[in-house]
Amino acid sequence: MSHSFQYHRAKLRHLFLTWGPNRLSGGRLLQRRRTEGVELRDLQIHVPGWPEELEGLRVAHVSDLHIGDLMTVDDATRVIERLGALQPDVVCNTGDVVDLDCMDLSSFFQASSAINPPLGNFLVLGNHDELDDPASVAAQAEAAGITVLRNSVSTSRDGARTLRVGGIEWARTPSACHDRVSEAAMSGRIDLLLSHNPKAFDQAARLGIPLTLAGHTHGGQIAHKNRPNANLALAMRHRRSAGLYEKGRSRLYVTVGAGDLFPLRMNCPAEVMLLRIHRHRGE
Ligand SMILES: [Fe+2]
Repeated sequence: MSHSFQYHRAKLRHLFLTWGPNRLSGGRLLQRRRTEGVELRDLQIHVPGWPEELEGLRVAHVSDLHIGDLMTVDDATRVIERLGALQPDVVCNTGDVVDLDCMDLSSFFQASSAINPPLGNFLVLGNHDELDDPASVAAQAEAAGITVLRNSVSTSRDGARTLRVGGIEWARTPSACHDRVSEAAMSGRIDLLLSHNPKAFDQAARLGIPLTLAGHTHGGQIAHKNRPNANLALAMRHRRSAGLYEKGRSRLYVTVGAGDLFPLRMNCPAEVMLLRIHRHRGE
């Protein structure tokens, strides 16, 4: 298979930011990063216009595992199993499952599927999933029973609860994000939007989508002490780079991700999230 310019650029970046420094450190960078692990964090989000029947919805949000040299399939499987033990209502993976090359991801996707959440298990692909073989990443997820959203909406029901999850394919620019969110919204109302790129939030807010989940930024992996929003990703012009944001009545959560682009994190620990979604106070 011939690869794109983006693939070769990512390979070069990997060589300079991961492989090289790790070798120079005698393997210590990677070893230290692996012992730091991934934090499991719990966050309550109050969302205006959130459907009454979905009060207290428990959403497992995982993103940017970057399975490859910095995260093995087994490591990723253990991460998703820890999240699954909390018995979420819905599992949302906002992409970058793989770092560079696609591989056998079946054990990871099967562990994710085994969580068997009552309101569904969803994935949108990220830019790194697109580098090598996006069709294989998606096919492996679907083979395990995970719903891959491509500018579309999926409606799931559990008793009296109905949840409409929208998801868009990877888009780099705000205008490409805009078009994909609009396309997804054509197929029906969306309660919860999944987008790898947080830049989809402007259009989500314009359309009145209550909650968007995103990843992609990694919070730059290096942040100011006690100020996760002041980070390297922000310096690289990602205005919404880590944590919770609001615009009008819409809310966005940007996770700093479970995996890495390079084997170093400072004041920006890797995370997977259990989000509890509540109706806005006073509604
Ligand atoms: Fe990523």
